[in-house]
Amino acid sequence: MDFHRGCRLLVSLVFGVIILYVPCYLPGQNPPDTPPTQLAGRDAILVGTDWYPEQWPASRWETDLRLMESAHVQVARIAEFAWSRMEPSEGHYDFEWLDRSIRLAEKHNVAIVLGTPTATPPAWLTQKYPETLRVEETGKMVTHGTRAQGSVTSVKYRELCKRITEEMGKRYGHDANVVGWQIDNEYGYALMSYNDEARHQFQEWLKAKYNSIDSLNEHWTTSYWSQTYDNWAEIPIPSAGHNPGLLLDWRRFVTFAWTSYQQNEIDAIRAVSDARQFITGNLMGYGFSGFDHYVITKPLTFVSWDDYVSKGHLDPDTNGISHDLERGLKQENFWVIETQPGFVNWSDLNNSLDKGEVRAMAWHDIGHGADEVGYWQWRSALNGQEELHGTLIGPDGEPVPLLEEVAQTAREFGQAQTAFRGTRVVSQVALLNDYESRWAIDWQKHNAKYNQFEILKSYYHSLRKLSQSIDIVSPYAPLESYKLVVAPNLNLIPKDLADRLAAYVRNGGHLVLGPRSGQKDEFNALLPIREPGYLAGALGGQVEQYYALEKNVPVNGTLGDGEATVWAEWLKVTGADTEVPLRYGAGNGWLDGQPCVITRHYGKGQITYIGAVLEDKLMTATAEWLVKKSGVTPAFGPVPDGIEVSRRENNGSAVFVLINFKKEKQSVSLPHPMRSLLNQKDVTSVELSQYGVAVLLDEGRK
Ligand code: GLA
Repeated sequence: MDFHRGCRLLVSLVFGVIILYVPCYLPGQNPPDTPPTQLAGRDAILVGTDWYPEQWPASRWETDLRLMESAHVQVARIAEFAWSRMEPSEGHYDFEWLDRSIRLAEKHNVAIVLGTPTATPPAWLTQKYPETLRVEETGKMVTHGTRAQGSVTSVKYRELCKRITEEMGKRYGHDANVVGWQIDNEYGYALMSYNDEARHQFQEWLKAKYNSIDSLNEHWTTSYWSQTYDNWAEIPIPSAGHNPGLLLDWRRFVTFAWTSYQQNEIDAIRAVSDARQFITGNLMGYGFSGFDHYVITKPLTFVSWDDYVSKGHLDPDTNGISHDLERGLKQENFWVIETQPGFVNWSDLNNSLDKGEVRAMAWHDIGHGADEVGYWQWRSALNGQEELHGTLIGPDGEPVPLLEEVAQTAREFGQAQTAFRGTRVVSQVALLNDYESRWAIDWQKHNAKYNQFEILKSYYHSLRKLSQSIDIVSPYAPLESYKLVVAPNLNLIPKDLADRLAAYVRNGGHLVLGPRSGQKDEFNALLPIREPGYLAGALGGQVEQYYALEKNVPVNGTLGDGEATVWAEWLKVTGADTEVPLRYGAGNGWLDGQPCVITRHYGKGQITYIGAVLEDKLMTATAEWLVKKSGVTPAFGPVPDGIEVSRRENNGSAVFVLINFKKEKQSVSLPHPMRSLLNQKDVTSVELSQYGVAVLLDEGRK
């Protein structure tokens, strides 16, 4: 190499290295592609709490914040129930107390999330404008003193909500210590008002959707029981037992009403706030399906949810399902903006989580994609409905025993946080969740024991053990990246969805449909094709008949032996190349010897239909077969039973969270050496006692 060429090479190498290593973001800013849940200039994972300064004299605030700071609590959500304090009489605002608490919080390194207070309108408001109050299904108007008493469809209520939100936005939209906003509180549990205003809006919504009353009549098959409508004004708000098409459209209207209610406040904030301030909403987990969460969360910066174990103890599958579902709403990290500090006050047994369990739960949250864990609440109001709920500070203002465990967790978050920056959960397996299908099945269960959550959980349990990471997403989410997609309860498969799912299979994916799949269209009407409807051709098979089971039916085949429980479908093979890995044994006569599971290669992929609810042993065997067939690999590697593994990754490095949920101490050998972030050691194995946690950085693998 001549001298000049050598110099040029050296110069370009030096520049190349400089260019490579000069980060393209400023200090205090996040690297590009950081999840919006990780705030610039703050730790990537945070512990927070819910603080209600309006319930205490101002002289106490600094003591609270000093205690938070020394416990490494770095976020406080405030003001979400303080409307009467912020607007003591109509149009007269008092924000001085809020200014002071935000400034004091800043002094103690506590970032503020402001809640809009619209779940609790002041008494003057509902007295002066009674039309803003919700009317229950019984016709009774709710009274002041609870919460969620505002009517989501009241034009007047929305106007007043907008006004207070705008005032808050103007005052705090550029406040450096206000990092974001929460809209309302749990969106009024999706409760609706059963009054003329709501009914009229529903009718208008239907008119915009169907355009002609004939079209509505046709799709709802209203010739049944003389339900035919001559004009929009005749359409009622449904109650249980109404037409399935009417029920589904009402639920969609409920979703629309709460989404537009939310938008009213988002618009008010966005008009006057910095783009850096996030806007979120505190949702509830899997168990709450009052509206379609995929729709309502679309306009949010990210999803937050309120995670309560309530009675008993943390079941990593039950809670993991909610985490994975919340993460799947926007396919992005999320916040656990509320969680229980030991115990709640609203169950029939408000037992405390065990010592160490609150910490384990916080790490379990992080492993599943949470970037903040917020304890509800800091301290109980001396009066008020939730006096006996768990807290971090007692009524005397002194820490309760749990505060030290929360402080330890927060310190550990601090030690490990840099490794989590930019990381997300990435899975090879997806379970599909669809609110419309959930509603449709629950309205007509056909067997009171048909429990969609338990069915989903049986798939989740077996598949997560093998894959160690699962996403729960909408059937309309992009599916290409998954090796295996399982739809345990996808009752509604309209043509456009069938086409998308078929394309996923043609391109190499493995689609698994559970019982009752593809029975109905988007109007909640039966398809004039047997299940799985438009996918029957690709499957090379269909459902001949379904049976709500009185007792279990034996099942056997190449996957093993076991039983079908609750529900079984007689499947019929129509394709020459459709295989039958499981058949029913002798049972109720109808099912004897008939296919229970059928599968077929289609395009570059495979489609499988499982026509029964399978008991655990058979589900385990089926999951093993599905994982093997689809080439799914575990995120970590073999671990003893009772150890939960979660993985978050970014640019070739991964962080694993391992938690022992068994009583006995267990040891786990690592597939290769990793850095243990909680004690800063390189390790090849870890020992975990009950609720023991290991957080392991693996820089060498994807
Ligand atoms: C919900 C609410 C909180 C509080 C807690 C108590 O999540 O959002 O305001 O009532 O429950 O568990």
